[in-house]
Amino acid sequence: MTDPRPIGVFDSGIGGLTVLRALRDRLPGESFVYLGDTARVPYGTKGADTVTRFATEATLLLERRGVKAVVVACNTASAIALDRLRTLTDLPVYGVIEPGVEAALRATRGRVGVIGTLATLASDRYGQLLRAARPDIEVAGKACPLFVPLAEEGWVDGGVTLAVAATYLDELRNAGVDTLILGCTHYPILKKAIGEVMGPEVQLVDS
Ligand code: DGL
Repeated sequence: MTDPRPIGVFDSGIGGLTVLRALRDRLPGESFVYLGDTARVPYGTKGADTVTRFATEATLLLERRGVKAVVVACNTASAIALDRLRTLTDLPVYGVIEPGVEAALRATRGRVGVIGTLATLASDRYGQLLRAARPDIEVAGKACPLFVPLAEEGWVDGGVTLAVAATYLDELRNAGVDTLILGCTHYPILKKAIGEVMGPEVQLVDS
């Protein structure tokens, strides 16, 4: 018999709903508990200690709710706190960085762009994993902190969002990246605008 307990999913806000949707599509027989820490979003501008404390509280809260596994649907928390979270609980804890890296490795011809929060980019977790798997890969990164409030506000396309996207992404497009990792759970919400700026030849990958 399958374990009837729900799977716990958490993010700093609504961005992790993109991960929850993908999980529901893949695992239609499962139930889920979603925690969006909208009171304390964003995580991506905060220090590593603070992000680790918030992620610890979320993980323990979900454990108390009787989940059978925890999905850290937040790139910032995955990049900074995943190893620590795995020491706190006997439950399986899954992050979102490795799946994004695997998808990018399948897609790229050798030049990968990574966009994410300031904290995710500062951790260089994506770069480390990409280079460990394929030392020949060129990795260029850019933090795009304004994408988070735009997504939370529902400004998914239109002039302001396109102008912000162009300002952030021009240097990656000019660097000739062939694949772009949307290394933040909020960014798939802005995929249309990001795709318009990067052009059809650049593959967009999310975890
Ligand atoms: N959900 C976070 C992530 O995936 C981004 C938003 C934030 O800064 O909290 O990194």
